[in-house]
Amino acid sequence: MPAYHESVMKNEVLHYLNVHMEGVIVDGTLGDGGHTEFILKNTAPEIRVFAIDRDRSAIERARERLSPFQDRVTLAHGNLGDLKSLADQNGISRVTGLLMDLGVSSPQLDTPGRGFSIQHDGPLDMRMDSSQKTSAADLLEKLSDAELVAIIKNFGEERYAKRVVRAIRKEQAERPITTTGQLSRIVAKAVISPRHTRIHPATRTFQALRIAVNDELEQLKFALQDAIGLLSSTARMAVISFHSLEDRIVKTFFRDEQKGCSCPPKIPMCVCGRKQTLKILTRKPIVPSEEEVERNPRSVSAKLRVAERIYV
Ligand SMILES: C[S@@+](CC[C@H](N)C(=O)[O-])C[C@H]1O[C@@H](n2cnc3c(N)ncnc32)[C@H](O)[C@@H]1O
Repeated sequence: MPAYHESVMKNEVLHYLNVHMEGVIVDGTLGDGGHTEFILKNTAPEIRVFAIDRDRSAIERARERLSPFQDRVTLAHGNLGDLKSLADQNGISRVTGLLMDLGVSSPQLDTPGRGFSIQHDGPLDMRMDSSQKTSAADLLEKLSDAELVAIIKNFGEERYAKRVVRAIRKEQAERPITTTGQLSRIVAKAVISPRHTRIHPATRTFQALRIAVNDELEQLKFALQDAIGLLSSTARMAVISFHSLEDRIVKTFFRDEQKGCSCPPKIPMCVCGRKQTLKILTRKPIVPSEEEVERNPRSVSAKLRVAERIYV
């Protein structure tokens, strides 16, 4: 069994969630259950956690880890983008805190059969939810050149997206692309990497495909919107993101919800009727300490943003 995922900024998350004596906290991205376990260990017995993951194997691993707290946790398989209906199905209408620790977990990354890793050869899969139909290999087969270029450019911020797609098509003319090793070799040859970089040249393409396969950015937007309806007054929402596309979505959402009214400044009176719903608590994102990054290099790009629900 792979080692447990190392949870990022656990103390900071607990501090900012500012958990009270009772209520339900949502862990929208359970993973190995490290954050949930830390919350349960450090809060009153009346605090419960409702935890979601779209990966059934993550839920099973976490279930075992969290067994000492089984009376205080409810685990649900599902997509964070369906937050409201998952909460409804479990009889939850209001929560006192919510955490989203986005992206993939270490066991997902380090299990070659899941097909997320550039380092380990495996099937080109990348589905967080293995019951979902479309894998990364399917996307490479199905999408048009223009669609693939757009994904690699927009979700991977890869400036050589066209070259990558040309190289993919050249390979596909000979044989289908079915493994992570095959794709990483093709991409590595197609892109020009800056010298002295330690980042693998296929990193951006892999990120792009993973985001597309799992529809990560759209699901995040749905989840943020649903969260507004679930948080009780002064409840907090903490989001940890690992790349700029996610962070930008969270930052913009928090700003818009803090601002409320979206009428053009020239209009003398508000006609949109939108009210402020959030107060931002982290003007700049919180990042892991140097000591944490040294202990857990995967935390290096983590950014934590927190906002508090207000009702005006
Ligand atoms: C970074 S890990 C979370 C690690 C966890 N906080 C811990 O301490 O062990 C992210 C997890 O969220 C899940 N995930 C990512 N996006 C999701 C989504 N839209 N819906 C449900 N689960 C999601 C992944 O399957 C993965 O298990």
